[in-house]
Amino acid sequence: MSVDLIKMAKRSKAKLKQFSESVSEERLLAGEETFSLTYSKSSLHKIFPDLTRAVVENTVANMEASGYEFNRVKQGANSVYAITIEDITKIYENRGHPKLKDFQPEAITVFMSSLKGGVSKTVTGVTLAQSLRTAPNLTPYDIKTLVIDLDPQSSSTMFMSHSLTLNSIDTTSAQAMLQDISKEELMSDYIYSSAISGVDIMPASIEDAFLAANWESICDEAGIRKEDIYQVLKKNIINKIKGEYSYIIIDAGPHIDAFMLNSMVAADILLTPIPPAQVDLHSTLKFINRLPVLENKIKESGATLNIEAHIGFMTKYQEKKKHNIEARRHAKSIFNIMLNKSMPKLDAFERTGESFDTVITKMPKHYEGSAESLKRAKEAAHDFAESFFETVNELRETFIHES
Ligand SMILES: Nc1ncnc2c1ncn2[C@@H]1O[C@H](COP(=O)(O)OP(=O)(O)OP(=O)(O)O)[C@@H](O)[C@H]1O
Ligand SMILES: [Mg+2]
Repeated sequence: MSVDLIKMAKRSKAKLKQFSESVSEERLLAGEETFSLTYSKSSLHKIFPDLTRAVVENTVANMEASGYEFNRVKQGANSVYAITIEDITKIYENRGHPKLKDFQPEAITVFMSSLKGGVSKTVTGVTLAQSLRTAPNLTPYDIKTLVIDLDPQSSSTMFMSHSLTLNSIDTTSAQAMLQDISKEELMSDYIYSSAISGVDIMPASIEDAFLAANWESICDEAGIRKEDIYQVLKKNIINKIKGEYSYIIIDAGPHIDAFMLNSMVAADILLTPIPPAQVDLHSTLKFINRLPVLENKIKESGATLNIEAHIGFMTKYQEKKKHNIEARRHAKSIFNIMLNKSMPKLDAFERTGESFDTVITKMPKHYEGSAESLKRAKEAAHDFAESFFETVNELRETFIHES
């Protein structure tokens, strides 16, 4: 008996299309397909620091008087303000709040690094990119972020822009790595905006897996020099666009391949999730143990690593469990730097993912669980982002940035 792989492939493709269309339909029915994160004018004082009702009223009026236009949406017979994160950063700018860009003109590149699968690299990476812009204490700094998806499974892409994964696209991060194109072309053709203004995605597609598997010969065909095969993410993409963002977060699959090695070469910071379960912790430690071997492989190719810090954080963490606390202690003895906040193990992180949302983009009225549990997860994500922001700011003072 022989298996008809082509027939199975066709059936799978049809099924995938059916799944995608049904997610899309559900979203349309829920009014989410065109969802973008906005706030009402009267809610701002409850959420954002220093924006009292009077401050909001005055600043909005001043901005409008000088020609700034806020979006409005119909609500019954009235039209109400639909204030975007972008607008809020402008309100703070108007009030003279400093921006992160004033003291950090270029992006810091962060690689969500682990060879252990399923440890929340993707969920944390995407949630962090969104929270760095939307956490109320961070929004005033006008932090712009980009997620570079280098995992052919395209989970980050699905979380950030579900419609991008409906059809296969060839404007992926992996494709961009193979070409020496201009910053303008990268920004217009390869980088997509998400539901949150200022949080962008450079997508992946399942076809990228073939590129990763045949990287050396594909680079050769593309005329890329041998010593550049692990440097093209940095040279062809990141060096060109790093003035546009404050943080670039790279998400790759849990394998040693050309995408992972390129991510390591491009990274200023490795950010490694540490799950407390004993078996997972072991795999994480084995990964750290293998890093010198990877460094040698990169050096042999003619490239160099420029990693300024390797930061660990606890993931799927349960504060009250004794073995979780012990795992954290072990992790602290390995990592020079640990974030003081963890990503807690909460249903909301998993449930929102089922509809390709995160705890940041899911609207409470469309969430199947309790609004309270969604709120708790969102606050944990904000705290985590703040802890990351503070830790990296302290480190930045010692960074020497070279292109
Ligand atoms: N803090 C959390 N609490 C509960 N569940 C979580 C949490 N973070 C992630 N998950 C769930 O764990 C699973 C794996 O998460 P994710 O896809 O982010 O891992 P990953 O490390 O990127 O995996 P891969 O190596 O396959 O890319 C998903 O089902 C996700 O919903
Ligand atoms: Mg992943």
